[in-house]
Amino acid sequence: MAQELKTYLTERCKIVDKALGKFLPTARTRPATIHDAMRYSVFAGGKRLRPILSLAAAEACGGDYENALAPASAVECIHTYSLIHDDLPCMDDDDLRRGMPTSHIKYSEGIAVLAGDALLTIAFEILAQTPPTRRYDVGAYVGELAVASGSRHLIGGQILDLEGEGNDVKLTPAQLKYIHQSKTAALLTSSIRLGAMTADATPKKLEALTDYGQSLGLAFQIIDDILDVTQTSEKLGKSAGKDEATDKSTYPALFGLEKSRKEAVRLTAKAHDALKPFGKKGERLREIVDYLLDRDY
Ligand code: IPE
Ligand code: IPE
Ligand code: MG
Ligand code: MG
Ligand code: MG
Repeated sequence: MAQELKTYLTERCKIVDKALGKFLPTARTRPATIHDAMRYSVFAGGKRLRPILSLAAAEACGGDYENALAPASAVECIHTYSLIHDDLPCMDDDDLRRGMPTSHIKYSEGIAVLAGDALLTIAFEILAQTPPTRRYDVGAYVGELAVASGSRHLIGGQILDLEGEGNDVKLTPAQLKYIHQSKTAALLTSSIRLGAMTADATPKKLEALTDYGQSLGLAFQIIDDILDVTQTSEKLGKSAGKDEATDKSTYPALFGLEKSRKEAVRLTAKAHDALKPFGKKGERLREIVDYLLDRDY
């Protein structure tokens, strides 16, 4: 990765962490257990990709990234909640996340469920603090995130992912693509759209960014599946090799590593195409999608 992009991502991470630090109740807020658990998972690490995309999308639309800090923090809360619940024994049953013990290992299953619930709820409290624009009011922001995180997208994808597990189920390529679009691409796309909305993006620009997000999001989950096969747990900060061990339906399982990689490359090019109307203003978003293709964790 180019040094300039590395510096940018590190700086943006800090900005996002600072905003999250302010939006989330302190660890001592009563009842302390829940606030401690919420902060534990949020600040365990993580690439902060979704919030960084929100800020970058706002800027690509000519806006000020500061107006996108509330939606950026909100999408990270949703994402972290989805990871806490994804790791539960009744779901993927993982004990390592972001290089640390998962919430249910560190605390208990009950607290992990509630920490996830609380992060999901506070996401909307935070999102409601986003400044409205001429085109978009708070209702538009809330509707956007609720749909992406709900039963027709993120949760819907998680359901089908669970149902697709085990060696007696063989999903079709179309079913697998649908799962990845729902469980992962929807929230990534929404993160980008929300950032753009804070910059009062025109419907045309929003549509172009939706195309960008959908291609980036699908490529992102394909790479996640590939890394599960090719990387170590130490590198990933989460247990590697889990998908194969649990007979998960993944791109490498269905198509093999080489074809999966090719598909991620094709989708990255498609994401670039979607950014054409942005000209120079789309440069950061181009760099981000390229980096995601070559990431190793
Ligand atoms: C992991 O997401 C879960 C998926 C949707 C594949 P990330 O790879 O963005 O996880 P963090 O936020 O960096 O921990
Ligand atoms: C998780 O997909 C997607 C969501 C949390 C919505 P995975 O189950 O592949 O994510 P990891 O590999 O555990 O991070
Ligand atoms: Mg999962
Ligand atoms: Mg998982
Ligand atoms: Mg995975």
